[in-house]
Amino acid sequence: MKNSMNNNRRLLLKFLLASPLLKLPSIAAAATDEVFDPDLKYILELEKMLIKSPEEALNIFDMEAVARDKLPPAHYGYLATGVNDEQVQFANRKGYNDISLTSRRLRDVSKVDTSVTIFGRKWSSPIAIDPTSSQKAFHPEGEVAMARAAKNKNQLMMLSGVASSSIEEVTQERGEPVWSQLYAGTHWPSTLKMIKRAENTGSPVLVLTVDLIGSGNRETLQRFIKRDTRDCAACHGEVRSPFRGRPMFDGINLDDYFAGEQAIDWTLVDKIKEATNMKLVIKGITHSDDALNCLKHGVDGIVVSNHGGRGQVSARATIDVLPEVAKVVNKRIPVLVDGGIRRGADVYKALALGADAVDIGRPTLWGLSAFGSDGVEKVLDILNAELVSVMQQMAVTSIDEISANSLTMK
Ligand code: LAC
Repeated sequence: MKNSMNNNRRLLLKFLLASPLLKLPSIAAAATDEVFDPDLKYILELEKMLIKSPEEALNIFDMEAVARDKLPPAHYGYLATGVNDEQVQFANRKGYNDISLTSRRLRDVSKVDTSVTIFGRKWSSPIAIDPTSSQKAFHPEGEVAMARAAKNKNQLMMLSGVASSSIEEVTQERGEPVWSQLYAGTHWPSTLKMIKRAENTGSPVLVLTVDLIGSGNRETLQRFIKRDTRDCAACHGEVRSPFRGRPMFDGINLDDYFAGEQAIDWTLVDKIKEATNMKLVIKGITHSDDALNCLKHGVDGIVVSNHGGRGQVSARATIDVLPEVAKVVNKRIPVLVDGGIRRGADVYKALALGADAVDIGRPTLWGLSAFGSDGVEKVLDILNAELVSVMQQMAVTSIDEISANSLTMK
């Protein structure tokens, strides 16, 4: 009886979901969520109750639902979009789901320590906040709210080079310098000016992002922009760009920034290394040979990243690339990874495959969009609690006990 009711309900929902009006807003969510059967995903979306406060969230997807409900379509589209058919977002998630865990038993796991030390600084958890751009598009307090959450949870925060709040005010709210991300321009003097501005805030680490070159078509974003009835030009002007009007570009001519002679290649890496005492982390490495190049050029850390599926078509899942990078790096410098981390178990799998820490991007924006800094804190709490729970299930009590022995690739 119950089964036949479920079947009928499923058929009815499938019928309803044939409507393009219902389907359209779910394209991006289906790409980022953990459910791979698109029909099932839409059913879950329809059944999902929107939570009213961060405390009600059972998992981070409850935040995503609220974010989608609250945000103007174009802004949600910017958050959710990948490029082209969004296969890279699917691949990043599938990579984690294709790994299973085999546990040991009868070990005392009553005390679990999730702390990690990176560049001599101890963090309470290996989950870092990715440098996502334009956070005021998601909450009026933007990066300042993100910084408050990072401070309250003692978590590593990377600030986007195209943040909508200034690095100075974010540093003040965070109560200590943040890692600062850089999209290098081809105009060296302007690029250097940005590096020095970050350095002057005491930022210990420059995160050079290299995976947004020649990026593909953001089709989901375009579709959501079409659904937005507001006058976008009133805020964005005629040219919509996450680079325009950003505080980090104060005193820098954006037209010059990408019209100079400096190639974005390893000569730039050498130049940056020479120009600053900040540690240099390169974000966007997806090949072990490039990891070796990082070592050759004195780079201090690596983030294995495909920009959350926003920068490259048909890329491999970052979790698939990670072991190859970790192997050649061989613990000489920290290796972080991002892309598709949505559960504590994903964090565990990344650490087991050689990451020293992970970064999360979209989930922090779901929390920010839904409930400001309280939402971000709840996202971090949920993922940290899930990590503790999976560590207990796996019978490990500290991060350095996590090893690849416990993983099986499906
Ligand atoms: C993005 C950059 C700017 O839109 O992070 O993906």
